[in-house]
Amino acid sequence: MTQLQSLLASVSVLSLLSVADAWSPTNSYAPAKINCDGKTGITREGGKISDAEASWLAKRDPVTSAALKTFLDRVTSNFADNSIVEQIFSKGAPKAGYAACGGGYRGMLLDAGTAAAMDDRTPGANEHGLGGLLQGITYITGVSGGAFYTSTVAYNNWTSVQDIIDQMNDGDHSIWDLSASPLNPGGSDTDYTNQVFADVTASIKAKSDAGFKVSLADAYGLITGYYMYPSLPQGGATYQWSDIQDVDAFKNGEMPMLMEVTAIVPPGEKTAGLDATTIELNPFEFGSWEPSINAFSDMKYLGTELSNGNPVNDGECVVGYDNVNFITSTSTDVINYISVQGNPVYTSMIAQFQNKFLGNITTDSVDTNIVSPNPFKGTSFYSSAEGNSLVETDELRLVDGGYGGQVIPLTPLMRKERDLDVVIATDNSYDTPEIWPNGHSIISTYTRQFHDIGSTDAFPYVPDTETFAALGLTENPTFFGCDSSNLTDLAYIPPLVVYLPNRMYSYASNISTYTFTYTKEERLAMIQNGFEIATRNNLTDDSEFAGCIGCAVMRRKQEQLGLEWPSECDKCFQIYCWNGTLASDLPSISSSANTSTSTTTEDDASYTTELTTLTSGDNFSTIHFETSTTITCHECEEAQATATAEVCEECEEAQATKTIECEECEEGQAQATITAECEECEDGQSNSHHYTTTTSMTTTTEVCEECSNSGSNSGSNSGSSNSDSKSSGSSNSASDKASSGPSILQVTTTLPTSSAFSIALNENAGNTVGITTSLTLLAIVGAFFGFI
Ligand SMILES: *[C@@H]1O[C@H](CO)[C@@H](O)[C@H](O)[C@H]1NC(C)=O
Ligand SMILES: *[C@@H]1O[C@H](CO)[C@@H](O)[C@H](O)[C@H]1NC(C)=O
Ligand SMILES: *[C@@H]1O[C@H](CO)[C@@H](O)[C@H](O)[C@H]1NC(C)=O
Ligand SMILES: *[C@@H]1O[C@H](CO)[C@@H](O)[C@H](O)[C@H]1NC(C)=O
Ligand SMILES: *[C@@H]1O[C@H](CO)[C@@H](O)[C@H](O)[C@H]1NC(C)=O
Ligand SMILES: *[C@@H]1O[C@H](CO)[C@@H](O)[C@H](O)[C@H]1NC(C)=O
Ligand SMILES: *[C@@H]1O[C@H](CO)[C@@H](O)[C@H](O)[C@H]1NC(C)=O
Ligand SMILES: *[C@@H]1O[C@H](CO)[C@@H](O)[C@H](O)[C@H]1NC(C)=O
Repeated sequence: MTQLQSLLASVSVLSLLSVADAWSPTNSYAPAKINCDGKTGITREGGKISDAEASWLAKRDPVTSAALKTFLDRVTSNFADNSIVEQIFSKGAPKAGYAACGGGYRGMLLDAGTAAAMDDRTPGANEHGLGGLLQGITYITGVSGGAFYTSTVAYNNWTSVQDIIDQMNDGDHSIWDLSASPLNPGGSDTDYTNQVFADVTASIKAKSDAGFKVSLADAYGLITGYYMYPSLPQGGATYQWSDIQDVDAFKNGEMPMLMEVTAIVPPGEKTAGLDATTIELNPFEFGSWEPSINAFSDMKYLGTELSNGNPVNDGECVVGYDNVNFITSTSTDVINYISVQGNPVYTSMIAQFQNKFLGNITTDSVDTNIVSPNPFKGTSFYSSAEGNSLVETDELRLVDGGYGGQVIPLTPLMRKERDLDVVIATDNSYDTPEIWPNGHSIISTYTRQFHDIGSTDAFPYVPDTETFAALGLTENPTFFGCDSSNLTDLAYIPPLVVYLPNRMYSYASNISTYTFTYTKEERLAMIQNGFEIATRNNLTDDSEFAGCIGCAVMRRKQEQLGLEWPSECDKCFQIYCWNGTLASDLPSISSSANTSTSTTTEDDASYTTELTTLTSGDNFSTIHFETSTTITCHECEEAQATATAEVCEECEEAQATKTIECEECEEGQAQATITAECEECEDGQSNSHHYTTTTSMTTTTEVCEECSNSGSNSGSNSGSSNSDSKSSGSSNSASDKASSGPSILQVTTTLPTSSAFSIALNENAGNTVGITTSLTLLAIVGAFFGFI
């Protein structure tokens, strides 16, 4: 303890960059045992925020209060009467949070754009944006790509997106220099690449030698660090998550508190779903509000062997376990997803990674972040049945917090203990085949509150994906939970949610999740588009929009205090609040409108148009589904690839199957794209359907490579999922061509949820036969980036 304190004390007086090494007690990635005589209660019961968070809030609250006052004064200055602002602040300021959605680099950059729009440090944000709102935010949360955004700004001394933009460049390893793929982080500078890999391997070995379990996730985290903290030695390999407690900007309440979310793989299972317990990672603690754990452990002492919260060996604690990249990677780790596919190609690639970065080290679980020892061991604060196994297990295995569908990290901001009034949430999810959101992520969080695991959570009502499409709720910002009087059936009154879905303004921001490199121009374009999403195109689509966000911020306080609601706010809420209308309330579709919808089902926007032009009263006569299967052949010299796919579903009893043949591969790089259409339902089975959207349609992309000269076959079954019930698409094993090694260039497959996610393996590097192990390894790392 003394040793630690003196270390930290010496650190805090020095500047961030010059002594970054000193942050790890061992000056390495390896944790260390320290003396902590008399230390108990390292893990505590949940149900309230920590004392440390409460003390921090005492610093932060006056800062956010002043900032929100400035923001609200500004955005309501054109109201006929904006005295409501004064009235609210005389009783206590509202509180706000920002939830940064996942989505790989796409998510990270769009989240940054939204942050820039809310940041008074961004030129233009005060004139045509929401400038100053970010300064008034108490908490920012991130998951997956959103965690890359939150970690980057938080652990770079609360830098602004504008600062990142100002020093943005290609090829100089500045923050978010995505010009070189993780396949090859040094680009043409092979020395750099080799050094990164050597350092990563050495770090993992040091942690293992110190007696701690490691996995491939350690490598994944360490490599991503080079893109987020390029100015720190080894991309932050010696920097601790809890070290932010000693950064002035945080300590003095000048920046929000960041929190990230990760999910626990239930002991005995291979992966986590929507009902899996989630862990909140905040600057002070590692813990869970959920009934299966209901406990929080001091982040600084993660790695300490505990029983019921106290050191098993009196006076013996571990520090240095909570490396910033390790902790961030628990929220972004998707290796597990690839692993559970069970495809022999994946398995062999992961084995190669393991060999590269872990060497001879054995691991309990190669594909998850292992937190061992389990900080909740022997606690009894849980109240649900699965809690038993979580407090008995020796180690926790963690995966990307977006698993199961919650790609927007909303739950930490919804907690009643934090008592927020409004939450700004981006949605950059990959829900539709064209990589746009369809509401699925927010619906997952809404739904979860009615499961046992979410029984202590509350979330405003949201409609189904059909309604999101029909009402265009993913086209523009939407407010959910506008009237707390309608939320009294929930566990408590949750904050109002301002939902900011990804859409195109100045840039087609539906960038593939398997795009691992972005040029400077592309990064800037994504950030700008994010700015425009958050501001309704710089307030040109609606010049009143900033005032409307002001109304959303003030709503809960206005309701609580019974204040008069300005007419401007009333008008805003008519426009932006979802008012409970469902697609099923809308006119149903005429039977005379025939199956032409089959051509529009991939596109929510044109579907919406179609729907409104149809006459009401009749039922839609035929459901016509379309599933597209794309087969791309690379380098199939004189070979022929064949694939079959089942493509039709939901025609009640009738089900059509179609066999697709890949075109004969030409010399060199042949590409065959084949779209298979579902046949119409048979007569007599198609007359009484209501219209159904195909929001859960799945797409399978299969790539054949290095077909042998005699030709090779690949088969796949692509199930298009049932859109009515939002049940899952069938999970797809990508290919059966495992025998020839890493021959799959690109595989798109479906998650066992209604969303189609994609994984790309080996996209760029695979053309060379005899691909090197390190390239293969890096290809996987690259795939992880963009995944959720
Ligand atoms: C962190 O940022 C603050 C505010 O911009 C600045 O005053 C301070 O010098 C920075 N600290 C370091 C260590 O760079
Ligand atoms: C919107 O504002 C941002 C920030 O000021 C600016 O970079 C961007 O060019 C603007 N977009 C348009 C379409 O003017
Ligand atoms: C793995 O084990 C072998 C045999 O014990 C040894 O020669 C080799 O150096 C080890 N490799 C690493 C990376 O530790
Ligand atoms: C992006 O969206 C547009 C319009 O919806 C679509 O035409 C395009 O194919 C999409 N891009 C990708 C990569 O899916
Ligand atoms: C609710 O919203 C729907 C769709 O936007 C609209 O047609 C309807 O008029 C609204 N109802 C009320 C009572 O505002
Ligand atoms: C109001 O509450 C009901 C349930 O009581 C819910 O079905 C409806 O969607 C809610 N409306 C809004 C606008 O949240
Ligand atoms: C039905 O579809 C056909 C072609 O798909 C089109 O020519 C015809 O006009 C459509 N009929 C109606 C009533 O929309
Ligand atoms: C539409 O369907 C409902 C039930 O599915 C049925 O009661 C109704 O008669 C149908 N309307 C027409 C015009 O076919």
